[in-house]
Amino acid sequence: MSQPVLQVRDLVAGYEPGVPIVRGASITVNKGEIVIVLGPNGAGKSSFIKAVAGLVPVSSGQVLLDGVDITAVPAHQMVRRGLAFVPQTENIFPLMSVEDNLRVAGGILKPKESAERIERMYELFPDLKSFRRNGAGNLSGGQRQMLAVARALIVDPKLLVLDEPSAGLSPKFVSMVFGMLTDIRKTGVTILLVEQNAKAALSIGDRAYVLVEGKDAHEGVASELWNDPVVAELYLGQRAHQKAGGAT
Ligand SMILES: Nc1ncnc2c1ncn2[C@@H]1O[C@H](COP(=O)(O)OP(=O)(O)OP(=O)(O)O)[C@@H](O)[C@H]1O
Ligand SMILES: [Mg+2]
Repeated sequence: MSQPVLQVRDLVAGYEPGVPIVRGASITVNKGEIVIVLGPNGAGKSSFIKAVAGLVPVSSGQVLLDGVDITAVPAHQMVRRGLAFVPQTENIFPLMSVEDNLRVAGGILKPKESAERIERMYELFPDLKSFRRNGAGNLSGGQRQMLAVARALIVDPKLLVLDEPSAGLSPKFVSMVFGMLTDIRKTGVTILLVEQNAKAALSIGDRAYVLVEGKDAHEGVASELWNDPVVAELYLGQRAHQKAGGAT
């Protein structure tokens, strides 16, 4: 039986009162799954996961983590609740050493536990161990994302949520990031991933949702969605719609 780790029901959220960007989105992420959220530019993918992570005000709907209601829990308390969010940008402290980045991220842990978790992250990400004393700003793009993910994993979250971890990376690092996520999943971590890089994301995901205009418009098995005519239609339809909108 699949066990839901994250259940989002009819979520409505936005930056200003009365201007919903997320308009009734519902998704489920089961234990051990990698679930992908795809969608055209401006569909509200980032807003959606930020609302889930407590970073965008929610006006209605529900977010349950392991059955516990975490709707609108402030972002800084989400880590304690078991949800770790990796933003698309500014997800590390470039002026700090790699190790200090990890130490700060594990700030809610007891010192002994923090030290153990840092060692565990070095086992998972040997590159980070090699550069532990280096400034994080000197890491390559791929290693930076590795550090950002390690910072999120250090607290051993129930759910790892990532916004476009492959954005802006060269193809070599894109495959490194997706390889890393596959490895992480093997350790039992449940992952929710927003990606522009649909083909690569679908190749590592279990299930995927297509978000259009702030609502889940389609859902399917990741490996089947790439060739799904409905997905093509949703993307193309949205583009046509935007063009029509832009002309007025
Ligand atoms: N901080 C903000 N304040 C106000 N509106 C915002 C803010 N961030 C995003 N929006 C608006 O919300 C809508 C959805 O943006 P969002 O970034 O969530 O889409 P997205 O699907 O992640 O797009 P992309 O594929 O480009 O990353 C857009 O119309 C955008 O202008
Ligand atoms: Mg986005």
